Amino acid sequence: MQRIKTQVVRIDKDPSRWNGQIHEIEWAAKLLTEGRIGAFPTETVYGIGALAMDEMAVERIFEVKGRDKRNPLIVHVASIRQAIELTTEFNDTAMTLANEFWPGPLTMVLPKNPCIPGVTTAGLDTVGIRKPDNAIALELIRLAGPIAAPSANASSLPSGTTVRDIRKDLGGKIDFIIDGGSCVGIGLESTIIDLTSKVPTILREGGLPTKEIQALIGDVNLDPSITEGKAGDRPKAPGMMFKHYSPKYAKVIAFMHNGSRLQTLHMMDQRGEEIKNDGKKVVFIFSGQIPSRMRDRMKRFGEVCAFSDAWQLGKHLFKKYRDFDRTGTFILVEEAEDFGIGRAVNNRIRISAGGNIVEPPKY
Ligand code: TXA
Ligand code: MG
Repeated sequence: MQRIKTQVVRIDKDPSRWNGQIHEIEWAAKLLTEGRIGAFPTETVYGIGALAMDEMAVERIFEVKGRDKRNPLIVHVASIRQAIELTTEFNDTAMTLANEFWPGPLTMVLPKNPCIPGVTTAGLDTVGIRKPDNAIALELIRLAGPIAAPSANASSLPSGTTVRDIRKDLGGKIDFIIDGGSCVGIGLESTIIDLTSKVPTILREGGLPTKEIQALIGDVNLDPSITEGKAGDRPKAPGMMFKHYSPKYAKVIAFMHNGSRLQTLHMMDQRGEEIKNDGKKVVFIFSGQIPSRMRDRMKRFGEVCAFSDAWQLGKHLFKKYRDFDRTGTFILVEEAEDFGIGRAVNNRIRISAGGNIVEPPKY
């Protein structure tokens, strides 16, 4: 692929401090309308966008990411009205959810309006739509039109949450990057809900906890790729078929909870010591604070990152994966408690670990 110049513009997250920066957004919007592609911040992760209606530009996104053509893109809108125009049936549930959770980390899968090119939705007759909660993204969409955007990372790697990471994966391949500061409110991708099935079905758990959706619309189903912890041959969200979220060089090992947290911590400590003795590098990532004596001990084996809760872990997980992504490094991650946002965090941890999941014996 021929390398091109990737222009970077810095824009404040807070629109009250934009002043002249609005011109930078206008500049980026103009590039999009001319068929260019570029990265922009959202509250979940950075996206790499093209106009959803521009077949050639959307094709380029697949190319620069190395993304499988069977994996549809989410279309980002700036209003409910825009979403309605992109679907043939924006049903009552969609309206209820949009009124409550948009702008926000919720993608709704709905019957697609034929005006959206097949390449954007990978030939499906549905489209995933969301209105992101980020002023820069919203202004860009308002000016340019609906934007198709996957997460801004090379396929299979952790989603891009900082400009440094995006440059690494996509620098020289995309036309621009809007630097809206290190992501992000959430740091994990949106929750995806399929509203074309009889009972709404969660296809991917994400930034909006499933229980909040249930509280509003009642029962929802979970796609088997979530309940069985692995993607089948034909998951409803095609993206679940492909390798995901994993660092390029470092290996992730996930440590589950089975009752006693202390037991999990001990297993991590033990494994860390073994890896260190084997001459490899160790990084511990914890989903909560750890006793100081334990921290001191583990520091002898490697780097220790302990987050205060699942939200904080989710916010920083992908960045940490990238910070420590080196050959011969093992990243040992403690899962969060499996409820609320912890469910989405654990999903990312398990998938990034591939089969390397340690489950303490039940007692
Ligand atoms: O938070 C997010 O969702 C971020 C930001 C940039 O909005 N985007 C994101 O896009 O995570 P991506 O492409 O990395 O993941 C999109 C997922 C894929 O698993 C894809 O298969 C699924 O959404 N998807 C998109 N359209 C779909 C559709 N019509 N039916 C089922 N799944 C769909
Ligand atoms: Mg992605």
